[in-house]
Amino acid sequence: MKIDSYINSIIVGNCVDVMKNFDDNVIDLTITSPPYDDLRNYNGYVFPFNEITNELYRITKQGGVVVWVVADATIDATETGTSFRQALFFKDVGFNLHDTMIFRKRNPIPQIYRKRYNNEFEYMFVFSKGMVNTHNPILVDCLHAGLELNGTTYKNYSKNEQIREKSANPVKDKKIKGNVWEYVVGKKQEDQEAKGHPAPFPCELVRDHILSWTNKGDVVFDPMCGSGTTPRVACKLDRQYIGIDISADYCQIARQRVKRIEMQPTLALEFEQA
Ligand SMILES: C[S@@+](CC[C@H](N)C(=O)[O-])C[C@H]1O[C@@H](n2cnc3c(N)ncnc32)[C@H](O)[C@@H]1O
Repeated sequence: MKIDSYINSIIVGNCVDVMKNFDDNVIDLTITSPPYDDLRNYNGYVFPFNEITNELYRITKQGGVVVWVVADATIDATETGTSFRQALFFKDVGFNLHDTMIFRKRNPIPQIYRKRYNNEFEYMFVFSKGMVNTHNPILVDCLHAGLELNGTTYKNYSKNEQIREKSANPVKDKKIKGNVWEYVVGKKQEDQEAKGHPAPFPCELVRDHILSWTNKGDVVFDPMCGSGTTPRVACKLDRQYIGIDISADYCQIARQRVKRIEMQPTLALEFEQA
């Protein structure tokens, strides 16, 4: 079946079975979050990780990107290390590990004290099929904008520390954002729409990745879309979307969230300009 029949829809099913119907090289960006180590939260649904990864490689366009948001459970006093194993398997099937990014939660859930610090982050592994096609970097303010320096020290990782003797230009107003991204989880109105799902990621996180790795009209995919955060934000940013989830109940939440956006097309502009 051609990909066109799946564009702008939310499909109930095992994502491997559905992806098998997709053509090769059709997806610009996948952003997804798998069911981590704890399958019980999702009624023990099957999670065929190896097959998912192989299918993702086949359907991703050359230069396309997969963002895999994941964390480890701690079982019998040790973190499982599943995140790292998964990242290395993505490399084994042919993806580049383009960047290991961090999703830092500004309001992490307090945990029972077990002689370790409170966990407040997840990994956002960014994989690419060959060299990345699109990167629209997000800019942030420079802390010392306008400051004039006599010289500067910088690090070139292949040549160690370098010193620039000559007078440096004043510090610029803006710089490219770093790869640790912070978000408040579950408090914004747009995130509260996802209640009914146990583990939605923040709309803002998805928005930042979609803006970074795609352009308008590109195809954004989430094979385990849960409450539909990825399709919702993709729709709002004028990208095409495809979402799959094995739970019919979660797909229903996802469809409602996307429908609300489709019925208010003018909001898309405000969102992008914010
Ligand atoms: C961490 S949640 C994703 C949450 C989502 N990012 C959101 O914002 O709502 C993982 C999802 O994977 C789904 N899932 C688990 N196994 C699946 C499979 N084989 N195919 C499709 N979906 C699956 C679960 O139903 C669950 O909704």
